[in-house]
Amino acid sequence: MSQSPSFRRTLVTSALPYANGEIHLGHLAGAYLPADIYVRFLRMRGEEVLYICGTDEYGVPITLTAEKQGITPKELVDRNYESIRNSFEGFGMSFDNFSQTSRDIHAETSQAFFLDLYEQGLLKQKTTNQFYSPSQARFLADRYIEGTCPKCSSEGARGDQCESCGSSLDPTELIDPRNVLDNSPLELRETTHWFLPLAAWQPRLEEYLESHPEWKENVKQYCKSWFGDELADRAATRDLGWGVPVPLPDHEGKVFYVWFEAPIGYISATREWAAGQGDPEAWRRWWQDDETRLIHFIGKDNVFFHALMFPAMLMAHRENYIYADNVPANEFLNLEGQKLSTSRNFAVWLPEYLEKFQADPLRYTLARNLPETRDMNFTWEGFLARNNNELGNNFGNLINRVFTFVHKYFEGTVPEWNEEMMEEIDRAALAEVAADLKKYAEHLERFEIKAAMEVCFHAGQVGNRYFDESAPFRSRKTDLVRCGHSLGVILQILRQLALMLAPVVPFGMEKLWSWLGMETDLWNGGWQEGQREIPAGRVLGKPEILFPRLEQEQIQAEIDRLRGMLEDGS
Ligand code: MF3
Ligand code: ZN
Repeated sequence: MSQSPSFRRTLVTSALPYANGEIHLGHLAGAYLPADIYVRFLRMRGEEVLYICGTDEYGVPITLTAEKQGITPKELVDRNYESIRNSFEGFGMSFDNFSQTSRDIHAETSQAFFLDLYEQGLLKQKTTNQFYSPSQARFLADRYIEGTCPKCSSEGARGDQCESCGSSLDPTELIDPRNVLDNSPLELRETTHWFLPLAAWQPRLEEYLESHPEWKENVKQYCKSWFGDELADRAATRDLGWGVPVPLPDHEGKVFYVWFEAPIGYISATREWAAGQGDPEAWRRWWQDDETRLIHFIGKDNVFFHALMFPAMLMAHRENYIYADNVPANEFLNLEGQKLSTSRNFAVWLPEYLEKFQADPLRYTLARNLPETRDMNFTWEGFLARNNNELGNNFGNLINRVFTFVHKYFEGTVPEWNEEMMEEIDRAALAEVAADLKKYAEHLERFEIKAAMEVCFHAGQVGNRYFDESAPFRSRKTDLVRCGHSLGVILQILRQLALMLAPVVPFGMEKLWSWLGMETDLWNGGWQEGQREIPAGRVLGKPEILFPRLEQEQIQAEIDRLRGMLEDGS
């Protein structure tokens, strides 16, 4: 059962980031910020939701980096795990569990999963030729192999690609192939592996896709393009010293292929969460109950694995697993008009960002520029403008003016405002913001975060217009009762703005929520309280500047660094 027309709870995952380096803006815009916004929205409405993530710690790039740094892979991933976890925390990611695939619980979970498919005879064994390094007594992955390019004859072409002429290569094509690490010669040897014959699941997968017309167009298009040909066999195991061992006799030196085991990491991390709750079986409620809805947030390069391969694995398992109800994949984020490149260090890294700036302005800027349907662009100038003009002027100033005013002239309590005093201008503003709140929720339910943000911005404009036109700063001198009423009305607008902004700028809105004297936890039913009127007489908190202005000097260093990067690289 995949579709949950009536679901009771939502399990949300973000792609497990490789523990091979830090998080950058491209990651955030693709799989992390949208998921966190969505999860916070559901929590705010008091829905039952679990948000799972962790680092993806096996695979060749990890062993290569570790070997270059002269440390063990485990040391490398533990170090990176810590730093990724900290920067995500600083950014306000609200995972219920952030795990690691190198933990025992993941080895157990993925081995048991493999055995279930294996025992049903669903996996297929094949023998192929792979390069073997006699000096290191191991098979080598493509990226460990270098040789002379068969196309352009330049030396030092990698097993998967020649950097000089750009041809993509199979290692067996290289002339004089060698081990990158010690330059020793290699020999071809036979090796036997297990594969997922995805063609066997193809009819079910096509049916699955057809049962989800509501998925994003880009995701459906990717899937359809793969269905154009028969789906190929996908490796489930490989020869590597770093990974989850294949739990079968005579399989020494063989581990799971990382794309087979990593998605199972979502299940392992849920089991770990359940154990931490003191209820080890509670994970089943999240993975094996048709009333749970599973949503995978990912970047476009992960669609195949989350929309086809992992669902096929879950369908095949003998226990009744649910599989993705939606896979809202995003396109890519460019930087200053160029493609991000981590190898050239042309990127904005999260830990460095957080040393200088707050999380909210970045969350806001990215949310306004999400690559939901096409690639988008992040610029520092755009960041400055979003912070100053939108967060600062449209929202921050309005909030600040209202609170300052109430403290100055009404002793910090909500002034008398009521039905009898309502005029057309009051009613119109309240109706417009209430309608925006409704539209906002409808967009978020459909994962249309950018559209939701536009509605939120509009509600801010309505608030500002109402403030200017109802002009409490003028009526203060002529009609204090009228003045108080207008402020009472604006406070009703602010509470709804708090709801719309909270998932995006949670740090600032938690403050506003408490200044408004709200009683429920914003993240546990705040939505309901935010629909109710704030009565006259309530004591309000003292405001501070929520979204400080940024100056050109503060971003100039960032712009210069990226420009320098481009010049060095070209
Ligand atoms: N580490 C992969 C990436 O960053 C994502 C893995 S998602 C998982 O592209 F589901 F496989 F874990
Ligand atoms: Zn070449």
